[in-house]
Amino acid sequence: MPHVEQDFSTPQSEALHRRSCQSLALGVSSGLRRNVGPVPMFFERGDGPYFFDVDGHKLLDYTLAWGPLILGNNHPAVTAAVIKQLARAYAFGAQHHGEVELAEILVRVLPGVERVVFSNTGTEAVQAALRLARAFTGRSKVIKFEGHYHGWLNNVLVSYRLKPNDPCATLPTCGGQPAAEFAETLVLPWNDLDAIAAAFQRHPHEIACVLTEPILVNGGSCMPCAGYLQGIVDLCRKHGAVSIFDEVITGFRIALGGAREFFGVTPDLSVYAKALAAGFTLSAVGGRAEIFRVLEDGRTIHAGTYNGNPINLAAAVATIRTLEEPGTFDRMRAHGLKLRQTIERVAVERGIPLVTTGVDSVFSVHFGLHAPPQTYRETLPADAVGYGRFRLAMLCAGVHLLPDGRWYIGAAHSDRELLFAQQAIEDTLTVGGK
Ligand SMILES: Cc1ncc(COP(=O)(O)O)c(C=O)c1O
Repeated sequence: MPHVEQDFSTPQSEALHRRSCQSLALGVSSGLRRNVGPVPMFFERGDGPYFFDVDGHKLLDYTLAWGPLILGNNHPAVTAAVIKQLARAYAFGAQHHGEVELAEILVRVLPGVERVVFSNTGTEAVQAALRLARAFTGRSKVIKFEGHYHGWLNNVLVSYRLKPNDPCATLPTCGGQPAAEFAETLVLPWNDLDAIAAAFQRHPHEIACVLTEPILVNGGSCMPCAGYLQGIVDLCRKHGAVSIFDEVITGFRIALGGAREFFGVTPDLSVYAKALAAGFTLSAVGGRAEIFRVLEDGRTIHAGTYNGNPINLAAAVATIRTLEEPGTFDRMRAHGLKLRQTIERVAVERGIPLVTTGVDSVFSVHFGLHAPPQTYRETLPADAVGYGRFRLAMLCAGVHLLPDGRWYIGAAHSDRELLFAQQAIEDTLTVGGK
């Protein structure tokens, strides 16, 4: 039974953060973790769906390390596979069985995927997909959309976080982004096929690819309008460009076959990371064999010292085999749906305006909105401060959430965790409303 602690004290985290700042810039390893309150928390252990911090709190975790921990921590099948591989070799920098095994699994479970390449992070794999698309088409321009995140490199880290009055244009997100590096990136509003068609008219034979998150999870878990994703694929085909779904979040999460399976739409390329290896560092690009011919005939290259690392691949094989067990995705979706329903019901009962958006294994909560947003801009009026208060209250009640309203559900979340989280929502939701 959760109860709301008045004082969620974090003296050890605070001390470690102060110490860390003396040697590690910012005291965090990824800039996006800097503002995760109440302080950047330090953790020492994870077990199933629980995190244990250095101040002795046991927290029910719905962050899943920003998505990857689809099986929670310490999953026996993944741990066993990794230990087995550790005993054989850490790295080869050369070919091994695991590559063939995982590539064959990906081709089997991802609809329409005929070839894959491996890299390490989502950021890298997005760049690999862009290069493939550019080499294949001989063109250089890339269309991306407002509020979509595709990693931290200059050509895609544009128009990611916007203010309401910002124009729809290619805007850098931070310092150190020279304009030349995003000069070939066109930014459009999402969920608007006419805008894409118009861009193809404005730039005939110049656009190499259209890059989209199939569900705009990074911009508030907005869903694509009916026909939108197929419309992108069709427009790309019509204009000789490559359609790319960035499935770093949706892959192996919304269905085993990601958005391809969930929406029944087959883009030319898809990018995978996060849930693919359940917390180990692995990413992949998959798609039509014809596009990958640009690697085979030497038109371009894809490289990386750590590509195909046997330990991470072993983790991925074990992850996918576990996810393939019957009922896994149904259970995750049912868990998420019940959480959403609880949040929405309690909010209605208490007169707190909010909506939840997304699919049930990854969804976002928007305080202060009355209708599901269809674009990132429509999420901007949401009450982020109110959500921050709710998140903090949930933390005090023992539930760990991401700061941006996103909830990740994993296979380790059972009915026990559901009851705990539902009670925490009942106990805390009052604090969120204005
Ligand atoms: C949709 C999407 N693409 C790409 C990335 C970048 O992945 P990584 O952080 O592994 O580099 C992320 C990270 O959150 C993401 O959400």
